[in-house]
Amino acid sequence: MSAQKTQHEVAQVFNQVAAGYDHAALRFFPFAADRLIMHLHPVSGTKILDLAAGTGAVTLAAARAVGPQGRVSAVDLAENMLDRLQEKIVKFGIRHVDLHTMDAAALDFRRDYFDYTVCSFGIFFLPDMVAGLREWARVTRPGGRLMFTAFAESAFQPMMDLFLRRLERYGIRSPDPDKPPAGMRLADPARCRELLDAAGLVNIDVTTEQLGYHLKDESEWWDVLWNSGTRGWIEKVPRAELESFRAAHLAEVRPLCNGQGLRLDIATHFAGGDKPPAPSSR
Ligand SMILES: C[S@@+](CC[C@H](N)C(=O)[O-])C[C@H]1O[C@@H](n2cnc3c(N)ncnc32)[C@H](O)[C@@H]1O
Repeated sequence: MSAQKTQHEVAQVFNQVAAGYDHAALRFFPFAADRLIMHLHPVSGTKILDLAAGTGAVTLAAARAVGPQGRVSAVDLAENMLDRLQEKIVKFGIRHVDLHTMDAAALDFRRDYFDYTVCSFGIFFLPDMVAGLREWARVTRPGGRLMFTAFAESAFQPMMDLFLRRLERYGIRSPDPDKPPAGMRLADPARCRELLDAAGLVNIDVTTEQLGYHLKDESEWWDVLWNSGTRGWIEKVPRAELESFRAAHLAEVRPLCNGQGLRLDIATHFAGGDKPPAPSSR
């Protein structure tokens, strides 16, 4: 599939899910955003670039961290996601954030501009992740830090495997069976490290944290599937069969619920590296 087609499809899916993306069932996004900014620990008054910003979980956490003397630039392909972020910016009266509808793989910013560049749960949508990271490094100042998050192997399991198998029963599978779904491309932490290394970054660090919680029941699991990247897969189910698909999948998930609800595993990698400092002129 061409990079442009992939990009178009990704934007289409996220434009569709924007209205439900901030539902409580998907609170792992703001949880991860807060942890990402905690790991990054940005200096007040600095400039942060938030790529694949979505509805702004990281953007808002970054804006709080750098304070009004700093600046946060948020980039996303999906305008509906950025519209939600714009609403929050207005609601909270934030003045040091700007939004850009732009491809994270081809940035319209000058080199060495940002102090930090971050991306939460977005890098795995890029057709060429190393090229993407090099582009992110280009716009980051020498010595500045880049960080991204990605889902680890156990994330969303065992429900995700049941969902993918159910899709297969409806004849829906990845065009390339050897390629995992986008969200699982960086499940191996060694792969995160390799990417940062291949992009020329130094002081590489990859840590994994469990950010999971209990969903109320299987209907909240559907909320997660319907309002995130997996919506693209659900849209391939013929409309006439969607209700039977949903009912069959939720019936197989229901037995996983216990007195506390349905455990949602959100094992997450936090991966970071520094752009090497500029060589001394002496
Ligand atoms: C799973 S959401 C994550 C949003 C946000 N970072 C968060 O943690 O809540 C992924 C986002 O990546 C965006 N995205 C995917 N590919 C992109 C690209 N090439 N350039 C910019 N944004 C992209 C999508 O539109 C979507 O908003």
